[in-house]
Amino acid sequence: MPYIATPGLRVHVIDEGEHDPLVLLHGFPLSHEMWDAQRREFRNTHRVIIPDLRGFGRSTSQDEIVSMDQFADDVAALLEAMDISQPVMLCGLSMGGYIAMALARRYPQRLGRLILTNTKSLPDTQEAATNRERMANLVLKEGPTPLVAAMMPRLFGPRTNEHRPQVVDAVRNVMLANSSRAIAAAQRGMAIRPDSTPSLKEITVPTLVIASEHDAISPPEEMRTFAAEIPHCEFVLIPGVGHMTPMEAPQEFNAAVRSWLQRTA
Ligand code: MLT
Repeated sequence: MPYIATPGLRVHVIDEGEHDPLVLLHGFPLSHEMWDAQRREFRNTHRVIIPDLRGFGRSTSQDEIVSMDQFADDVAALLEAMDISQPVMLCGLSMGGYIAMALARRYPQRLGRLILTNTKSLPDTQEAATNRERMANLVLKEGPTPLVAAMMPRLFGPRTNEHRPQVVDAVRNVMLANSSRAIAAAQRGMAIRPDSTPSLKEITVPTLVIASEHDAISPPEEMRTFAAEIPHCEFVLIPGVGHMTPMEAPQEFNAAVRSWLQRTA
């Protein structure tokens, strides 16, 4: 069942395994493919649901701007269309984390447990928002290449850059395959995202925050600070890797999630 029709969007979604649903939200500008190691690990014990978010991967769209609230509404609509009414375990990386925080605000009843990895609760600075608009326009003119060139040096820790070229190449290829329109729309949506920090204290479900030592995009100390705002939260720091923890350190990432899921069951 690779495609699910929701009002206004045909969503490409991986849906494998049985038991409690674990929903994985990819970062920007990626697709379900970034979660391959988690898909293989958790489908033996969970129903693993990995959508391609609006416009990305095989979920096409023509939007000019997609807010984090819109992405969250899409995830809620997807769960509805899949007849999933029980609260889910939701895990988001970076932009997927911004969306997970929007979902926690808008659909708290949908959440059973929450995992925020390599993400931020703060909004963009004015400078970052201006850069996003500049990059959105450039990508619409020239395609994803300039964005990919700007992002690649900031995505990985030194260990991955030196010893795991296949991970670096896989991420580059997924980014380059995405549509310019989707990239620009999500950039604009991230530029207007609200500050999620004030609503963190309203999150009542068990939460795991996973940071990594060399994350240049979501610095670990900033993540530790926002994790302290969430009432039932554990914070884990994965050493030696950068922003793409689930791909750079899949065993450590999966073990941290697995052990936390067992402890909070
Ligand atoms: C991501 O990994 O999703 C992006 O780096 C998030 C962002 O651009 O803020």
